[in-house]
Amino acid sequence: MSRLKIVGLSGGLSAPSRTLSLVELVVERIANAASAAGLSNETNVIDIAALEDIGHLRARPGSPDVEAALLAVEGADFLIAGSPVYKGSYSGLFKHFVDFLDYRGLIGLPVALLATGGSDRHALAIEHQLRPLFAFFQAQPLGTGIFFTERDFADGVVAAGASEQRLDQLVSEAVHALAARGRQQISTATAA
Ligand SMILES: Cc1cc2nc3c(=O)[nH]c(=O)nc-3n(C[C@H](O)[C@H](O)[C@H](O)COP(=O)(O)O)c2cc1C
Repeated sequence: MSRLKIVGLSGGLSAPSRTLSLVELVVERIANAASAAGLSNETNVIDIAALEDIGHLRARPGSPDVEAALLAVEGADFLIAGSPVYKGSYSGLFKHFVDFLDYRGLIGLPVALLATGGSDRHALAIEHQLRPLFAFFQAQPLGTGIFFTERDFADGVVAAGASEQRLDQLVSEAVHALAARGRQQISTATAA
């Protein structure tokens, strides 16, 4: 079985970005738990704001940096997608990148949905905005999503002890999805 590709995608615009720090943490937790379960994996975190010429993306192929990022998401075995909440939804930057993904590129892909916001009032942006976006792609978002606000962070990174139970639940669902993905790889290789 080839190594499972775990890809993080952050649509945060700030530097430092809370969203990026949450995406990095979740990627690390999932990768470690998958390794502990015997699922060999590799990780890649994409910070959309840092992609060279992202602002000039009008059609594919984009700049080499942007194209590599789009291909990495389309080739992922598991995606961790995070965005800050802007005006009640994902950031425009996040959507700009997602707009250029192949509409067939994420079919069946398990996705962890993450968002950060200024207030709990917009916690449901995960359910009302991110989940329908990935439904368009026929991806398979996990049941558990994570929404963090300022109080879950200290010095720009996720604070120790922030909603550990929810993180553990998401990681456990992710490992199940990765195990299924691994079994799928084996059966496809056997049939070929
Ligand atoms: C332009 C803009 C719009 C925002 N709109 C919302 C909003 O509608 N709801 C909310 O809860 N937070 C809102 N926020 C706060 C951000 O979502 C929050 O600070 C987030 O954690 C920033 O993530 P980042 O550090 O990755 O940029 C907004 C912030 C900005 C700059």
